Amino acid sequence: MAQKKAQERIAILGDIHANLEAFQAVLAAAKERGVTQYVCIGDLVGYNANPKECLDMLRALKPIGVVMGNHDEYVGANHDLSGFNPVAQLAVKWTRERLSMDDRKWLTSLPYQKEIFRFGTGMPPFCIVHGTLDNPGMWGYIFTRLNAMASMEYQGNDNLCFCGHTHVPMYFIKDDLDTKAFYFPFEKPLKLEMNQKYLFNVGSVGQPRDGDPRAAFTIYIPDDETVELIRVPYDIKKTQEKIVAAGLPPRLADRLAEGR
Ligand SMILES: [Fe+2]
Repeated sequence: MAQKKAQERIAILGDIHANLEAFQAVLAAAKERGVTQYVCIGDLVGYNANPKECLDMLRALKPIGVVMGNHDEYVGANHDLSGFNPVAQLAVKWTRERLSMDDRKWLTSLPYQKEIFRFGTGMPPFCIVHGTLDNPGMWGYIFTRLNAMASMEYQGNDNLCFCGHTHVPMYFIKDDLDTKAFYFPFEKPLKLEMNQKYLFNVGSVGQPRDGDPRAAFTIYIPDDETVELIRVPYDIKKTQEKIVAAGLPPRLADRLAEGR
């Protein structure tokens, strides 16, 4: 008798930023929800105190797609940091010292954008990028519908794209007439209409900035054509204590409790 194939459930994780406690809580929530595949839209490192652990944990998940974030690039390469604010600069330098050359090379080997095909599933491909598709290496932000319109011009035939970088979960819909911006409803799956194009910002696992300090990630279920934002409480106090003990700027600890 043919066995029924498990439904594919893809967790899209972004802006983990070396926050081990948030990452662990997100993985437990993903497991509980029957996630079968993982995708990461970049910024694995930077800001928080467990870059090596988060890197190893992500790789152990054997994700079907990972793209580079600006922090991954700056930590991985030896770029000049004058474009970063002083707090981010300090965090990048601190992180570089905690990773091996191989880890740093792995970070810089990541692509800026990726189209993900699931051969044999009959599911359409989708794309991932950290910042914007119109110029991924420039690290622009998508906050407005105008920003989204510029990026979605480059979505090609993919009806679906996932991004991060702002740490604010949002989504944009483009049809023949218009592009509209929406805030993501919480724990209410959004049904995708196949005659529209979507761009989802999946929120941040490790440093949310939408005023909700809980970790955020998104689950995409291709069979149901749904995308859902999940929020997960985690041990913020423990993460904060590690940041302070590591000698990282205290502002990085404070902001976690504020979700800013
Ligand atoms: Fe980020």
